[in-house]
Amino acid sequence: MQEPALVRNAISENLFNRVAAYVPGLNAKGALPPSAQRPWQKWVDAELGFRNHWYPVLPSRGIPEGGHRAVKVLGEEILYLRRGGRLYAIEDRCAHRGTRFSVRPLTFTNDTITCWHHTFTFDLCDGRIRCLLNDPNSAMCGQKGIKTYPVREVKGVVFTFIGDIMPPPVECDVAPGFFDEDVAICVADPYVVKANWRLGAEGGFDPGHHFIHNWSTWSACTGLPMTFGWVPNKEVVVETNMYQADKLGHNGFTRLASKSDVTSTSAWIPGRNGSADSEVVLPMARGFSPEQREAYEKSSYDGTVGGWMPGSLKVDWWPAPGIVHNEYYVPRDADSHYYFQVGWFRSPDPKLREEWANGELGQLRWKIPVVDQFTIDDATAREATHEFYAREGGWQQERTAPFDVELLMWRTFCSDHARGVQKVEHTQGKFPR
Ligand code: FES
Ligand SMILES: [Fe+2]
Repeated sequence: MQEPALVRNAISENLFNRVAAYVPGLNAKGALPPSAQRPWQKWVDAELGFRNHWYPVLPSRGIPEGGHRAVKVLGEEILYLRRGGRLYAIEDRCAHRGTRFSVRPLTFTNDTITCWHHTFTFDLCDGRIRCLLNDPNSAMCGQKGIKTYPVREVKGVVFTFIGDIMPPPVECDVAPGFFDEDVAICVADPYVVKANWRLGAEGGFDPGHHFIHNWSTWSACTGLPMTFGWVPNKEVVVETNMYQADKLGHNGFTRLASKSDVTSTSAWIPGRNGSADSEVVLPMARGFSPEQREAYEKSSYDGTVGGWMPGSLKVDWWPAPGIVHNEYYVPRDADSHYYFQVGWFRSPDPKLREEWANGELGQLRWKIPVVDQFTIDDATAREATHEFYAREGGWQQERTAPFDVELLMWRTFCSDHARGVQKVEHTQGKFPR
């Protein structure tokens, strides 16, 4: 699939206008419309994720030949097995009486799994009942049994389609460029973040959140201050956000960061009742000489930050020119998600690509500075925000500021383009097989 031709188009302005009415300070009339009419309602409903999309679930290295892994994705319990060189993903729930196969996965042949409880034996390819070992002539043989999940393994990542429709190409649900032949992918071990997946997808894109990274290890190691967060106006938002929206293609948008990057190293907290104002200097800028301060404030990050359906972020470049940081927020259940991070490096040299994907290059230039020393702070922020949205009515109570407008545009964009919403019934096995 080709890199999408991102264009500035009417979508930007249209989205801006649809959400602006909900942001105090952007809303000319002052009164906010009723929350029931929010254009991002589907986002609010998607506590368990968007259905009928592909998700990265495991690194290929996590499931060697003969191995198995049980994983919960969008609330569905899935068992992965690699047998005879082929990777299978099946519902981890026996059709007979629901026993979890993963407790003792019995694969007497490479293309079947036998339930360890009462011998029902299922075809790993289509989930049909192959036979019952204790009743070979059973009329159930050949009948529908368990759900099997489409999987596609690319560049060391196992993607899985969660849904009921004929899956579109996996490329549609992966940030553009991932599949390019000259792109090498370094895959970090995904880990569970105890926060709803939407807080991940919002947090990565959130232009105002950069403040947290002033306390990131990466910032301390490089000596570079971050910002107080970006505060773009309407002109900047419409100018810098470029969209791709295709029915069967990449859906997402990209912000050109440099144009909205307001870099100052200090701010003021007004004093009360006539007392003096207090200056706050960003931690890593404390002690800067005037020249250092000026040099830093003039510098600008010229990369792009993009959000892609069904929930990923692509930062081109980070942490250094030529390296792309790409992260996926894979719903696990209502209260947690997998933080699946990959680093890209483009090179015509296959040896260099191998060194990036499986050697020290990707580890030293991307994984350690970004995964270990930077995005860990994003995960902490999500966990600190989770309770508010999960149990305290955060979707109704939040008090959005003008710099949240792009975040609301992202919610709305996703609501417009999601192929479906995962429901509680899906987590209870109530789906077609
Ligand atoms: S529960 Fe699996 S065979 Fe009975
Ligand atoms: Fe961040």
